[in-house]
Amino acid sequence: MPAAEPVTMDKIVSLCKRRGFVFPSSEIYGGVGSSYDYGHYGVLLKNNVKAQWWRALLQERDDVVALDSAIIQHPRAWEASGHLAGFTDPLVDCRTCKKRFRADKLEDGECGRKPSKRPGETSECDLTDPRNFNLMFQTTIGPVQDAGSTVYLRPETAQGIFLNFKHYLQFSRKKPPFGIAQIGKSFRNEITPGNFIFRTREFEQMEMEFFVPPDQAQQWFEHWLDQRINWYTGLGIRPDHLRLRAHEADELSHYSSGTSDIEYRFPIGWQELEGIANRGDFDLTQHAQFSGQKLEYVDTASGERYIPHVIEPAAGADRATLAFLVDAYDEDEIEGEHRTVLRLHPLLAPVKVAVLPLVRKDGQPELAREVERSLRESFQVEYDEGGAIGRRYRRQDEIGTPWAVTVDHQSLEDRTVTLRDRDSLAQERIAIDALEAEITQRLRRPWSSPKLG
Ligand code: GAP
Repeated sequence: MPAAEPVTMDKIVSLCKRRGFVFPSSEIYGGVGSSYDYGHYGVLLKNNVKAQWWRALLQERDDVVALDSAIIQHPRAWEASGHLAGFTDPLVDCRTCKKRFRADKLEDGECGRKPSKRPGETSECDLTDPRNFNLMFQTTIGPVQDAGSTVYLRPETAQGIFLNFKHYLQFSRKKPPFGIAQIGKSFRNEITPGNFIFRTREFEQMEMEFFVPPDQAQQWFEHWLDQRINWYTGLGIRPDHLRLRAHEADELSHYSSGTSDIEYRFPIGWQELEGIANRGDFDLTQHAQFSGQKLEYVDTASGERYIPHVIEPAAGADRATLAFLVDAYDEDEIEGEHRTVLRLHPLLAPVKVAVLPLVRKDGQPELAREVERSLRESFQVEYDEGGAIGRRYRRQDEIGTPWAVTVDHQSLEDRTVTLRDRDSLAQERIAIDALEAEITQRLRRPWSSPKLG
């Protein structure tokens, strides 16, 4: 049966809560607006997304290195980066309903007065003129709260990379073109967070700054557009649900001389999934000026020196996780029974193999436990013996487990089991001793979404 399209955000939110992927944060206290906690399967899924990002950059290439920088940086860094002055959104207040909106995204806002739905839609809405609101969270460092102790929670991970650029030149002797990648939390006091984990105030970024000789910037920009699109499609996102959109001049960030967004067709429409920016030499020049340090590449043999230009693919780990969930969500019918299934790429699936004894007797649980233990050495495995076998398959389908191993009466006679495929529903009889190699091989196979038809 074909996929139930379009997938709604409500269905994703409900599945995430029901199966313990993502919960509203602090729910027993009524929740904190747009703040979420990841449960067991959510942690496994997001970890797999991040692991695949690291793999694509660190393992599959030899020109990118890793970093894990601090969240709190020197406050001057945010002056130099332009965030203190320029990392703002235009904010309007409504004097009638007392709500706040982003002036440039009024159509996304929801007015507090009914029946009006959009701020400014009726004459009763009384909006103030827009004023700039800085999105950085402030806090203080140390026990004394004065102006000198103000620090900021980073609104992007990128700046930590620029602040460490010199270390990589000095100690690692890196020569452009090369990249520095990091994954970490960023914080933005968004005026209108929302749409589940799409836009939150605390989120994880996966960012890479790729330093290049200035005359190579355009070719590397195009290279990274290609690479990043391929990363998503290689992990199963349907190509027709991705598109590239170049920013208009008036929407470019203060540091960017050219940005293209990879957009995904979310249930809320086409939205940014990842931004790929040509940051030129803006950041290194600014930090050199504010810190008084030289941040340039010098070729000691030829005497050539230049400030590298930077191409930045900047993705969100939470937003990517949401896109993978949305793309994978499917509903069908098996033997007259409704099934919800996450058709996740096996590499992303939280659990790779479920091990299920057909019945809870006759030595089947013991043998199934033995199989579970042996597979656990290589894969994330889940053992389940509770309830009818059909229901146990459905439970695994719903969390996206690509394969289920069933131990039955024959298993005790000949040490074979059945291996069930989540998508084709094919069941193959296979020797227990051959399972590990078979699953390893299946995990390595190219995979494309069965939703493509
Ligand atoms: N260093 C460049 C930068 O931060 P960005 O477009 O503002 O660029 C990059 O952010 C990515 O981070 C976005 O494409 C998105 O995936 C993610 N992101 C940004 N703000 C977010 C938020 N409030 N909630 C969740 N993810 C966010």
